[in-house]
Amino acid sequence: MKKLLSIVALLVLCGCTCGALKVGVANFENIIPQPKTIVCEVDGEDYVLTRSSHVVYGEGVSERDAEFLVEYVALSTGIKLSAPKSGVVGDIQLVIDPAISNPEGYCLTVCSDGVKIAGGSSDGLFYGIQALRKALPVGKFRSIQLPAVRVEDWPQFGYRGMHLDVSRHFDGVDFVKKYLDMLALHNMNTFHWHLSDDQGWRIEIKKYPLLTEIGSVRSQTVIGRNSGEWDGIPYGEGCFFTQEQIKEIVAYAAERHINIIPEIDMPGHMVAALAAYPELGCTGGPYDVWTIWGISKDVLCVGNDKTIQFAKDVLEEVVALFPYEYVHIGGDECPKVKWHECPKCQARIDALGLRKTKAKSPEEALQGWFMREMADFLAEKGKSVIGWDEILDGDNLGENMLVMSWRGESGGIKAAKKRVRSIMTPNKPLYFDYYQTRNSAQEPLGIGGCNPIDVVYAYNPVANVPEEYREYIIGVQANVWREYIKTSDHLEHMALPRAAALCEVQWAAPEQKDYDLFLARLQPLLKLYDRLGYNYAPYVLEEMKAE
Ligand code: ACM
Ligand code: ZN
Repeated sequence: MKKLLSIVALLVLCGCTCGALKVGVANFENIIPQPKTIVCEVDGEDYVLTRSSHVVYGEGVSERDAEFLVEYVALSTGIKLSAPKSGVVGDIQLVIDPAISNPEGYCLTVCSDGVKIAGGSSDGLFYGIQALRKALPVGKFRSIQLPAVRVEDWPQFGYRGMHLDVSRHFDGVDFVKKYLDMLALHNMNTFHWHLSDDQGWRIEIKKYPLLTEIGSVRSQTVIGRNSGEWDGIPYGEGCFFTQEQIKEIVAYAAERHINIIPEIDMPGHMVAALAAYPELGCTGGPYDVWTIWGISKDVLCVGNDKTIQFAKDVLEEVVALFPYEYVHIGGDECPKVKWHECPKCQARIDALGLRKTKAKSPEEALQGWFMREMADFLAEKGKSVIGWDEILDGDNLGENMLVMSWRGESGGIKAAKKRVRSIMTPNKPLYFDYYQTRNSAQEPLGIGGCNPIDVVYAYNPVANVPEEYREYIIGVQANVWREYIKTSDHLEHMALPRAAALCEVQWAAPEQKDYDLFLARLQPLLKLYDRLGYNYAPYVLEEMKAE
C-alpha cells in the first residue's frame, strides 16, 4: 500500500512538472556570429520540435555530429531526443550538399515538416548545427516552436582561432577540452596551443625526458608584476601533457572540427628547456626554470649543432602527434646579446656568410637562418610553419612560412605585401590577457593594456591592408597569455564574452556588424554560457551601458 502511494505520488509529481513545462520559441536572429542571410518564410508554417522528433543523418555525415545536435538540444532545452539514425527520412535532417560552395558554409531551413541542415562539408554542417543550437531558448521546455526560416551562411575567414598559453599557468586535459568546446560554440576552427615557455615546459618529449622532469617545475613564482618578492611555492610538478593525453585532445578537437596548431617557441622563450639541458645555451648555464615574467636574455645557442639537432628532434615528436598541416615555431622576443658574445654563434654567422645581409644585424640573420632551417625540416614532413612576426626580421622566409602578426598589424601587412600568408592577432585589440574595461581597478590583476569588448567587436583585420593583398590575410585569432591568469575560472572570465565579439570579426560580414544589435543578441548567448557553466565577465557589458 505504501509502495502504491509513493508511485502515485511520483506520478502526480511528474505530471505536475510535465504540465508546468512551457513551449519554447526559437529565434534565429539570436545567432552569434551573425549569419549572412536569415529569411523568415512568412507564409511558411512553423515546426514544433518535441522529444519524438527524429534526427537523421545522410551519407558522409558523421554520427558524432548528429549526436552533438541531440546533446545540444538536451542541454539547452531539456528535451531528450532519441538517438540519431542514418537515413534521409526524419524530422531533423543533416546532409552534405556539394552545391554549397564554401565547405564551411551551411543552409538551415525550417518548414512544417521539420528542419534540414545542409553543409558544404561536414565542417559546414557542424556550423549549421551550432546555429540551430544558438537559436534555441535556454530553459526547460515541453516543446520548441521553430519559425519557418531559411538561414544561409559561410565564414568571412578560413582561419578562426584562439590561443592558449599553458606554460605560465596550467590546467589539465579537462580544461583544454572545455576550452575546445568554447571555441566550437563560437565557430572557431583552430586552437593554437602554446606548449613551452621560459616558466614551464608542458609537452612530453620522449627523447628528452628532462624537459618535463625538470623543465615543467619552477621553484617559485614572482608576486604581481615582477615585484621583487616571490611566493616561495614550487609550481608545475606533473603539469604537462603526456603524448597519450595529447592524442586524446587532438581527437576531441577533431570531433569538434577544430585543428590544433602546437607551438614550440624557439629560439627564445627557452629557459625551461635550458634548465633541463644547459648545454643547449650559449654559456652552458646553469639555468633555472624562470620565476619571473618578461623576456630572458638566455636563449638557445643556435651556433651549436647539438641544439639544432635538439630542436629537430623535438619537432619530430611534435609533428607525429599533431595531424594538422601547421606547426608554430615561435620566433618572438629573442634577444641577441648572448649570441653576440658566443664563439659558436659567431662562428656560425661566419660559416654561413651572414655578416652582410638585408637583415638588421648578423644575429638577426642568424635567427632567420635558424627559423628557415626548422621550416625546411618541417617542409620535408609535409608541414607548413607559422612564426610570430619577428620571423620577418631575419629576411629569410621560405614558401611554407606564415606570419602571425602580434606587434600590431604591421607584420601582417608587410607579409601580405610580400605575398606571404598571415594571421592577424594584434595585441591591440586581440590580446585577451589585457584588461577588458576602462576601469581596470574593478578587474582581477592583469598584465595591463585595455581591450574592451566594443573595440574587439569593431576590429576589421583587413581595413588597413591594401585591397590587392587582402587575400593573404587568412584569418584572425585572439591570444590568451597566462602570466597573471592563475586559474581556469579567471581564464574564462578573460575570454568571455570577448570571444563572442571575436567570432563576429572572424565569421560575419563586416558590413553587417552592428554593435547594439550584437549586445542584444549576446543576452541569449550569456544564458547558454550560464547553462554550460562558463565563467564570463558580465560587468564588461555594464560599462558599455554606462557610456
Ligand atoms: C608574444 O606576445 N610575445 C607573441
Ligand atoms: Zn651561442
